[in-house]
Amino acid sequence: MQSVIPVHLPQHAYSVVIAPGSLDHLGTWMQGTEAHPLKFGQHVLVVSNPAVFEHYGDRATAALAQAGFAVSTCILPDGEQYKTLDTLSKIYDAALTNRLERSSTFVALGGGVIGDMTGFAAATWLRGVNVVQVPTSLLAMVDAAIGGKTGVNHPNGKNLIGAFHQPRLVLIDPHVLQTLPVREFRAAIAEVIKYGVIWDADLFAQLEAAPRLDQLAALDESLLQEILTRSCQAKAHVVSKDEKEAGLRAILNYGHTIGHAVESLTGYQVVNHGEAVAIGMVAAGRIAVALNLWRETDAQRQDALIQNAGLPTRLPAGIDIDAILVSLQSDKKVKSGQVRFVLPTQIGAAIVTDQVPTNVIRTVLQQLSTSVHG
Ligand code: NAD
Ligand code: GLY
Repeated sequence: MQSVIPVHLPQHAYSVVIAPGSLDHLGTWMQGTEAHPLKFGQHVLVVSNPAVFEHYGDRATAALAQAGFAVSTCILPDGEQYKTLDTLSKIYDAALTNRLERSSTFVALGGGVIGDMTGFAAATWLRGVNVVQVPTSLLAMVDAAIGGKTGVNHPNGKNLIGAFHQPRLVLIDPHVLQTLPVREFRAAIAEVIKYGVIWDADLFAQLEAAPRLDQLAALDESLLQEILTRSCQAKAHVVSKDEKEAGLRAILNYGHTIGHAVESLTGYQVVNHGEAVAIGMVAAGRIAVALNLWRETDAQRQDALIQNAGLPTRLPAGIDIDAILVSLQSDKKVKSGQVRFVLPTQIGAAIVTDQVPTNVIRTVLQQLSTSVHG
């Protein structure tokens, strides 16, 4: 059971490989095939964090050494709070100490935080070296590792410093998800549901047919492979059509407009990113219904999936609706003062619009409020 998904980009096409057990063949996959050799230089820097490296570091480095690569490692502290320029400099230090060259390769072994930082280091070290993404969280597998968005946070905002730098290969071994904390798994299922709603009605139907979506153990291996394959296909397709987010790629922000406001107003502590996106999708769904763009029954189907994944469908207690409305104005997606929303029009299709009256947003937020004043 193996899927190879091409990302069609004119200057830098690459493959996303989803293959159970592939971590132990990382070096072989990096050699490429006879028809398409990847021609990486000998030296590889594996960037990871202690939580991931403890589980998978030895296997990854052994697989690389076995294929003839000279391997160095760089272990960064774990957590979004370390996604900074300061931490990034540790990758540059390791690259310098280990004499990485233009032909060398950074291998990101970890979740989206490691992937984004390693990608940005690769974009900038010696003005650009190869990066291979080996995502170990479900979120990184279905989203962050594909598409070339890389970067770090600024003290005043997430992902404000970055670059587009496409990987040369994305290698996904679903077996590594066995050690992923369950809350991280659920958070990523929010993004999977997102692909079903905005892009892939078949994926949506398969998710609906699953008895449970709230933990890895509830999915059989073939459904997991299907979820990964269809999600990566959706992301690869959108990125191939619109690499730099000039248009279509913006639909990937479904659920993120209100989601980001909820995340930032709760100090990134109360709800995690996926949970915030889940709430944002419920809100966007209701806005779409209020604007007669989407059927109420489809919105209910979406909300049922979100609930089946153990994700929230209501705003966190105590959050102020006016504060959300103010926060929406400072979102990266605001253009000329108009808040941009991605709204579904059917299961499997969505549009981007800035024509959402504030009173509609307010009414929907009030419906989703759990506070006594809501
Ligand atoms: P993360 O990288 O912090 O990983 C979540 C936690 O799971 C971490 O503690 C990590 O150490 C642990 N972990 C990862 N894989 C594991 C495994 N197999 N076993 C045990 N523990 C494991 O968070 P994330 O959710 O993977 O990614 C979030 C980040 O990705 C954010 O910084 C976000 O901005 C970024 N992101 C980027 C893109 C993009 O297009 N570049 C898209 C979405 C998100
Ligand atoms: N995660 C949204 C994007 O890659 O565009």
